[in-house]
Amino acid sequence: MTTLHTKVGIVGAGPAGLLLSQLLHLEGIESIVIEAQSRQHVEERVRAGVLEQGTVDLLNSSGVGDRMRREGLVHRGIALSFNRKRHRIDFHELTNGRAITVYAQQEVVKDLIQARLRDGGRILFGVAGVKIDELDSHAPRICFEQNDESHEIVCDFIGGCDGFHGICRPSIPAGVLRFYEKLYPFAWLGILAGAAPASEELIYANHEQGFALLSMRSPVITRAYLQCQPDEHLALWPDHRIWEELDRRLETSDGFRLNRGHILQKGVTAMRSFVTEPMQFGRLFLAGDAAHIVPPTGAKGLNLAAADVRVLSRALAAWYRTGSGEPLNRYSEICLRRVWRAQHFSWWMTSLLHRFEGADGFDHRRQLAELDQIVTSRAAATALAENYTGLPFPL
Ligand code: FAD
Ligand code: PHB
Repeated sequence: MTTLHTKVGIVGAGPAGLLLSQLLHLEGIESIVIEAQSRQHVEERVRAGVLEQGTVDLLNSSGVGDRMRREGLVHRGIALSFNRKRHRIDFHELTNGRAITVYAQQEVVKDLIQARLRDGGRILFGVAGVKIDELDSHAPRICFEQNDESHEIVCDFIGGCDGFHGICRPSIPAGVLRFYEKLYPFAWLGILAGAAPASEELIYANHEQGFALLSMRSPVITRAYLQCQPDEHLALWPDHRIWEELDRRLETSDGFRLNRGHILQKGVTAMRSFVTEPMQFGRLFLAGDAAHIVPPTGAKGLNLAAADVRVLSRALAAWYRTGSGEPLNRYSEICLRRVWRAQHFSWWMTSLLHRFEGADGFDHRRQLAELDQIVTSRAAATALAENYTGLPFPL
């Protein structure tokens, strides 16, 4: 058994764990990140794509924004499509100049890994059998295997950044945490295609057949989603059926059509709202999907992870600088306020745009009336724009 010592042991090299390690490095605090998957796997995993203004600012001020500034697509609005008409919501005008940036999650992950390794950071990929213990002592431990050898990390604090299916949250003793959860009776079928996006901005569509979203990754790559069943079989969705269904749900009376191309990747994403309270126990701090999940309709998952680790890195920096545990004690409370605001927004966007099994004509017309209000009332559009571009990061 090899014993490694560090200040902060971080479980998970997703956006939360890697950004936490980078922010701590900028504060002069050493960390070690361990990751169950290979570097190639985490750098190729296709997930979120929308960065709030606050996330963009944080990545820039952390020294990992160069490629994002060159390759990210800055969007000043989105479109809502319903009743065969498209309506633009102008974020820039409604929020005094705020915007979002479309830049894939796996590109953020690549930039963070490169920066950490360049600066001598330690990220151990391909670890197995991860366990954490001594969480309420001054020296919590992370035990794992790598290349058939046993290792332990003894540290001052653990960052539990291992996503929804990780081991950190379940390692907290029974009875400490409360869970709040909502499952949705549908999922998203997502595609990545080699086709120029048919719109410069994202289009969210409410259609009788179900929700559809047109997004993108670059001027030559389209990303799109269709509402589907949670247990949908991809075999039932050959490429031509996906394009036909996207065209049907996104069609508008001006003859709007998608640009078709080779489908490079397909996947089904479940829809869930989930919150853990509190997000900490002893010297373990949960961040990102390990602590909360949002349905992707509001594009908030990655952004919440970034906001959590910003709060955590600052609280840890205060502890090392002044010895004060007060900011660490308030970690959960500070994060959860923003988490619940994002939960509300993501649930609201999901309810507004999807077709619910068993819903009747009344429900659909009520959704259309609400959409009508958003596109005709400045106050309603501003509420959407403020939430979508992101609430201010906590101080
Ligand atoms: P993760 O990215 O899940 O990272 C956790 C890391 O921990 C992973 O690398 C994992 O391999 C590692 N890990 C797990 N267990 C262990 C262990 N025992 N030991 C060591 N390492 C471990 N959000 C959107 O806004 N839009 C989307 O379209 C969208 N699509 C998504 C699709 C899928 C399939 C999923 C799962 C999520 C999606 N999300 C989306 C949400 C968004 O991607 C997440 O909110 C974001 O990845 C959270 O980052 P994280 O670092 O907290 O967790
Ligand atoms: C994406 O581009 O993957 C994306 C965009 C907006 C969302 C969810 C996913 O709400």
